[in-house]
Amino acid sequence: MARVLVTRALPGGGIERLRAAGHDVDVWPERLPPTPAQLRERAADVDGLLCLLTETIDADFLAACPRLRAIANYAVGWDNVDLAVATARGIPVGNTPDVLTDATADLAFALLLALARRLPEAQASVLAGDWLTWEPAAFLGAVVHGATLGIVGYGRIGRAVAQRAAGFAMEVLDTSDTPLPELLERADFVTLHCPLTPRTRGLIDDAALQRMKPTAYLINTARGPIVDTAALERALRAGAIAGAALDVTDPEPLPADHPLLGAPNLLVVPHIGSGTRAARERMTDMAVDNLLAALAGEPMPHRIDPGAAGPAGPG
Ligand code: DGY
Repeated sequence: MARVLVTRALPGGGIERLRAAGHDVDVWPERLPPTPAQLRERAADVDGLLCLLTETIDADFLAACPRLRAIANYAVGWDNVDLAVATARGIPVGNTPDVLTDATADLAFALLLALARRLPEAQASVLAGDWLTWEPAAFLGAVVHGATLGIVGYGRIGRAVAQRAAGFAMEVLDTSDTPLPELLERADFVTLHCPLTPRTRGLIDDAALQRMKPTAYLINTARGPIVDTAALERALRAGAIAGAALDVTDPEPLPADHPLLGAPNLLVVPHIGSGTRAARERMTDMAVDNLLAALAGEPMPHRIDPGAAGPAGPG
């Protein structure tokens, strides 16, 4: 029997499989994540950890958990885990690839369409009682069909977005064969699907935003820090781009009084890219499979390559 900490209640029945295997499972009961101190205290004598992207698994944390021998991250991205330190300690780290690809690509496209056709403003006007008649010039939006889509990061999710764009007869540019500056200059919509690494942190900065057309839109369903938040706010306020839709932000969550939220033509949703019931339940199953295997001394079925160069994210 192993002691396991799960840092939040998860959809699906996966956690029961940990208990059925005889493990002593502690599930953090709160809506908000444990603080770093609470996490260290709660995990001090665990053998296995099932954690979320809201937990920072760094050298300090790992030093406080001498028995830990398996980490299952409930996400495909693992920029919250110091893989090098875990690997040096001989702790395998698993993630949940593939099962959230379509859900995330769907959300990226939903955000693109909502921005282009101004859905948040249109709904707000209906709720405000401002739908008085059919108006020829109300809520005129951008054309999606046949527009140019720039995909930054052409991994699993980027390719799934390209498949959806084909249905809209879009011209697709992606960073596997188009330099980023050219992509930014030509695209009507720029959608981010690269992992967060030291190289991509702040990739979309003032200079990148200035390269985009003033009629172009930015969509981020990858990781918040890939976009320089202050630069985005400046670009939106100055009309340097037409709008932005964010599923991820920096900081995350954005406090309700954050200045970015006052910028025009901005749509923000609370990191729901993988948020279909099916995807989240399969993520639970994969994370549990990873833990069960490692605690039994077997290879994790979805282990992050310990030789991976740097922290990765959805891709
Ligand atoms: C991930 O998996 O990395 C997402 O951001 C959350 O599902």
